[in-house]
Amino acid sequence: MYRRPRRNRKSEAIRNLVQETSVGVEDLIFPLFLVSGEKKKIPVDSMPGIFRFSIDQMLFEIEECLKLGIQSFDVFPAYPEELKDPFAKESYNPETFYLKGLREIKKRFPEVCLMSDVAMDPYSSDGHDGIVQNGKILNDETLEVLAKMSLAQADAGVDILGPSDMMDGRVGFIREELDQHGFTDVSIMSYTAKYASAFYGPFRDALDSAPKFGDKKTYQMNPANSKEALIEADLDMEEGADFLMVKPALSYLDVIKLLNDNYPLPVAAYNVSGEYSMVKASSARGWIDEDRAMMEILTSIKRAGAKIILTYFAKDFAKTLR
Ligand code: PBG
Repeated sequence: MYRRPRRNRKSEAIRNLVQETSVGVEDLIFPLFLVSGEKKKIPVDSMPGIFRFSIDQMLFEIEECLKLGIQSFDVFPAYPEELKDPFAKESYNPETFYLKGLREIKKRFPEVCLMSDVAMDPYSSDGHDGIVQNGKILNDETLEVLAKMSLAQADAGVDILGPSDMMDGRVGFIREELDQHGFTDVSIMSYTAKYASAFYGPFRDALDSAPKFGDKKTYQMNPANSKEALIEADLDMEEGADFLMVKPALSYLDVIKLLNDNYPLPVAAYNVSGEYSMVKASSARGWIDEDRAMMEILTSIKRAGAKIILTYFAKDFAKTLR
């Protein structure tokens, strides 16, 4: 036996020398949930450790995260039912709490990288990412709404727009609209391969954004397919996306690798709510070591080829480095 792979595992120091992948806090984007009002910090039952914050409380949270080294945040709004309508009109009302909140975050912490979400579902009385007509999701009509929403968010000062809606042609449509209005510096992180997944359940609880009828299978991708991800990535490249994202992460590590191997753009992966809650729930029962499971999950996503990870574990991870 000349070859003994165990020699490279014989001590912590050697294991560290040969370690190929490591995750740093600079790779992470922390998703945050914003609600209207003030002095609110409401736990999300299905996501232990995650809250819905009013803007005053969110500023404290961001301040704490910055001290831990987290520099990037993706803010999602939770709207009450009375502000929802079929056309998501509230999404581009300049006085709406989400846009005001984004503005305040950038004013208070100009150094953070602030990402926002572009899709109709938080504002839609139908709970879908696009305009619904006779039970169908209209594509091109939805693009107009997404463009208005994107301009309003760019005007609020966000650094990166995250179109999470999966309508065809939206990246190019939004890019053109941004450029025409002078927002040439605003980036787009496209949800390139977003699958119709069971793992979004806890997120929809957090936002009360579950579809009122049907499912999202006519726009989100079929979990059985990976070649389609190449078509989506081709389009996003052509249409001017700055980052490609795969979502969820864990069941789609092969898709992360596929995009990273085939495209020069940085690949991001969204370690979604259900993936977070599975770990939290089993560790609460003493069935799994939470920190080790978190580290293994984040490392595997990075190893597969994601440079950037959107994860609810961001704060937990940053704390383990202290
Ligand atoms: C919707 C959106 C979803 C998530 C981010 N943006 C859910 C959905 O498509 O229904 C899920 C995030 C998560 O589960 O953590 N535009």
